[in-house]
Amino acid sequence: MKLGVNIDHIATLRNARGGVEPNLIEAARIALKEDILALTMHLREDRRHIKDEDLYEVKKLGAKINLEMAATQEIQKIALDLIPYSVCLVPEKRQEITTEGGLDVLSQKDYLKEFIKPLKEKGILVSLFIDADIEQIEAAKYVGTDYIELHTGCFANAFEKNDFKNELDKLKKAAKHAQNLDIKVNAGHGLNYDNVYLMKEIDGLCELNIGHSIISKSIFIGLKDAISQMLDLIK
Ligand code: PXP
Repeated sequence: MKLGVNIDHIATLRNARGGVEPNLIEAARIALKEDILALTMHLREDRRHIKDEDLYEVKKLGAKINLEMAATQEIQKIALDLIPYSVCLVPEKRQEITTEGGLDVLSQKDYLKEFIKPLKEKGILVSLFIDADIEQIEAAKYVGTDYIELHTGCFANAFEKNDFKNELDKLKKAAKHAQNLDIKVNAGHGLNYDNVYLMKEIDGLCELNIGHSIISKSIFIGLKDAISQMLDLIK
């Protein structure tokens, strides 16, 4: 299982003062020295954390970028110019604090099928961030995605209440279903140093995308150690 480190919240802190600190590029450099697969960055429509120029600066470091994005023409144009390693299509609402639910692939499967074509033609891997729902997985197959990223938010909330078995089972079943359809499976959202070990129970997960807990821990122990502790937990 590989790790994608989401660095959005370094940019959130930077943007709180409108200056350059903490320096996102320095953070990317530190993260890239660890054994991670990619840096995950979400270019939101409102640019509340990552800004367009951040993506190009991080790419210049030679980083594999996993670009989280809404399926809009504006962001697609940027993705086609940037050529990240992968994109992960997420639903986006302006007022939300963070991505709240999975993408509804089912209701827009023909749109998404066309939307991902030019991305795939440029060699960008495509992932869809979805809930552990069999119908959504079938729709993801129809769309032609390479990966799905299973939304682990419900599992993480259930873990807090010490009642996670059901949610973990749903993730396991969903992962298996996707793999049977030849879709590779990632997971993310709400994963932290306490709950992440349970992801090892889901067979064949390729990558975990983790942001908030790593960046939070880095305040106390530094980014290098925060990433390396997470790597130890998922290996
Ligand atoms: N994966 C996706 C698709 C997300 O939208 C997010 C949140 O930006 C994450 C993973 C990381 O979630 P967290 O910050 O809770 O680790």
